[in-house]
Amino acid sequence: MRFYDAIRPALFCLDAERAHGAAITALKWGLGPKNGIYRHPKLKTDVLGLTFENPVGLAAGFDKNAEVMGAMLQAGFGFVEAGTVTPLAQPGNPRPRLFRLLEDQAVINRMGFNNEGLAAFRARLIHYQDKAISGGIVGANIGANKTTEDQAVDYVSGLKGLGALPDYFTVNISSPNTPGLRGLQGREALTDLLSRVMQARTGMIVGDAPAKPVLVKIAPDLSPAECEDIAEVVMAQNVDGLIISNTTIGGREALMSQHRHEAGGLSGQPVFDVSTSILSTMYKLTDGKLPLIGVGGISNGQQAYAKIRAGASLVQLYSAMVYEGPGLSYRICDELLQLLAADGFASVAEAVGTDYR
Ligand SMILES: Cc1cc2nc3c(=O)[nH]c(=O)nc-3n(C[C@H](O)[C@H](O)[C@H](O)COP(=O)(O)O)c2cc1C
Repeated sequence: MRFYDAIRPALFCLDAERAHGAAITALKWGLGPKNGIYRHPKLKTDVLGLTFENPVGLAAGFDKNAEVMGAMLQAGFGFVEAGTVTPLAQPGNPRPRLFRLLEDQAVINRMGFNNEGLAAFRARLIHYQDKAISGGIVGANIGANKTTEDQAVDYVSGLKGLGALPDYFTVNISSPNTPGLRGLQGREALTDLLSRVMQARTGMIVGDAPAKPVLVKIAPDLSPAECEDIAEVVMAQNVDGLIISNTTIGGREALMSQHRHEAGGLSGQPVFDVSTSILSTMYKLTDGKLPLIGVGGISNGQQAYAKIRAGASLVQLYSAMVYEGPGLSYRICDELLQLLAADGFASVAEAVGTDYR
C-alpha cells in the first residue's frame, strides 16, 4: 500500500483546509516522498529558455506561501509554481472556503488569495536558493490584493519585488474569487496590464542576464471571441506563454457531490474537457508559436499526454493530488514515457500539438 493511501482516511476526517494545512506541515517536516525530481532524457524538455527535467509541474494554489517548493520537487515534479502572492498579506474569504467533491474527483475553492504577502514570499525564495534542488524550476504566481483599485500596480509590484528570484512569473488574471480580476482578460484591460508588466520586466534586466519569462494564466470560461482577443494581445505584447487554465465557474450541472452548489472555482476531473478545449483553441490561434502550459483535471499519464497533444509544452496539476498524494507526479511521468514510446516519439517536444499536425 502506498504511504498516501494509508494516511488519506485520516486526512479526509479533517475538513479540506485543515487537511491541506496538515499536508503542508508534514511536507515542511520532510515527511513527503523522497523520489527526487523524475529524470529521464525523453522527458527532459527546453521551454521558455529553461530546461525542465520533466514536463509535470505543481499548479499554483497548493504552495501559496512558497513553503514547500523543495519538498514538492523531491516528490518528483519537474517544476513548482508557488503563489498566488499579493503585495500585502490578506486573510482571504471566510471559512469554510475549500471543499472536496469525492464522488466527482473534484474540488471547489473560494479561498480569495489568502496569503502572507510579498515580503514573506520573497524571504522564503531567498532561503530556498541556499538549498535549491538542482534542475528544479520554481515559478512565482502573482496577483492583486482584494481592495486594490488599479490592479496593474500590484502585478508590477510582484514582479519588481521578486526580481530575479523565480525562474518565471505567472500573471494570474483568472481567479474567480477576487472581484474584478477576470475582467483583466478583456482586450483593453489586458493590453493596459500587459504593457505595464512587460515594461517593468524590461526595466528589471541586469546586464546580459536573460529576462525572466512572463506567462499569463487564463480562465476556462471564455467565449471564442474572448480567446481571439487574448491571443492577439499576448502575441502583440510579447508575453512568453499562457497557462490554460484556472478553475471554472461553470460545470455544476453534472456534479453529484453534496458540495456541488458551493460558490467558487471548480477543479479536478470536471474541468478537464473545458480546459483542454480552450488549450487547443489557443494553440491554433497562436499557430503553435507560443509555449502553453496545460492544466485542469489531470490525474494520470493519459490526460497529461492528451494536453501535450492538444498543444501543451508543459502540464500542471493540483486537485488530483488531493486524492492521490504528491507521489502522483512520479506515476504520471512513468505513464507518459510509455505513451510517448508507444506512439514513436523520442521526446515530449515532438508530441506537442500533434493532434493538429
Ligand atoms: C484550493 C485551490 C487553490 C487554488 N489557488 C490558486 C491560486 O492561488 N492561483 C492560481 O493561479 N490558481 C489557483 N488554483 C487553480 C489551480 O492552479 C489550477 O489551475 C486548477 O485547479 C485546475 O487544475 P487541477 O484540476 O489540476 O486542480 C487553485 C486551485 C485549488 C484547488
